[in-house]
Amino acid sequence: MEIQLWREILNPYELAVEELKVKFNHNIKEHRERGLYSPIEQVLGRVKTVTSIIEKATKKNIPLDRIEEEIEDIAGIRLICQFVEDIYAIADMIKERDDMQVKSVKDYIANRKESGYQSYHMIVMYKIQTLNGPKTIPVEIQIRTLAMNFWATIEHSLQYKYRENMPEYIKDSLSGAATAVIVLDKEMSAVRSEIMDAQNSFRIKANVVASILNTMQNLYKVANKRELVKIQDEFYRIYEQDDLEQLTRFEKEIDLIAEGYKVQGIKHALN
Ligand code: GTP
Ligand code: MG
Repeated sequence: MEIQLWREILNPYELAVEELKVKFNHNIKEHRERGLYSPIEQVLGRVKTVTSIIEKATKKNIPLDRIEEEIEDIAGIRLICQFVEDIYAIADMIKERDDMQVKSVKDYIANRKESGYQSYHMIVMYKIQTLNGPKTIPVEIQIRTLAMNFWATIEHSLQYKYRENMPEYIKDSLSGAATAVIVLDKEMSAVRSEIMDAQNSFRIKANVVASILNTMQNLYKVANKRELVKIQDEFYRIYEQDDLEQLTRFEKEIDLIAEGYKVQGIKHALN
């Protein structure tokens, strides 16, 4: 196939990957801005290279003109999370969305692969808009924990290095490492609520501080110098106390002050 044709084939998949990366990253942002725990920790995406499309087609006896129908992972999204529980929360979230339809699911966590591979795979049908109109294409979404991802990344590069001839001792140590991943994920799940609490209060605090700094910056434009210095000193004093309740109270107070200036500003403009 000519390069130009490959470009045409791959173009919709590139669009789908870009759009889905934006959407899932936004999902993380929305959770965090509301002070909620985000089940997705990191979003990765890629379009399969022409070389590996051809390699897969050859291996599976797929004629080149059937690639789009037969290969479902030309567009790939990987969602990494902290805890096994998050994987199923993300899967449920995806099933609920109306911008993608789940075509099939493979749960390699409930049914671990012989290699030791663990991950939750979904093929979803996703609609993009092209110059020739709408087109619905499959996207493979792999959902896995940080620990599972670590294992899969290492194992993938070893597979690549040894191809079909992976030495037994390496297979053994990968299999041992896969068991360690399961144990690690279980241990982490056991302290999940504590880890989540700690991370959440850190994020909530960061949000409040960001909002205070933003309001103070706006006040610089309008408030008088002496009042600003007072506000700033008060902020440092409260910040050092490391008390979220006090910070939140202070956030409300300076919001009111800023609001007052805004009203004055409007009156001034009207006069
Ligand atoms: P493919 O021909 O690989 O698509 O197999 P399949 O259609 O049966 O899909 P499967 O769900 O088994 O695998 C899809 C993808 O999961 C692969 O392209 C890899 O990215 C990943 N994967 C599956 N098995 C393994 C494994 O043993 N090790 C690693 N590192 N990745 C795997
Ligand atoms: Mg596949």
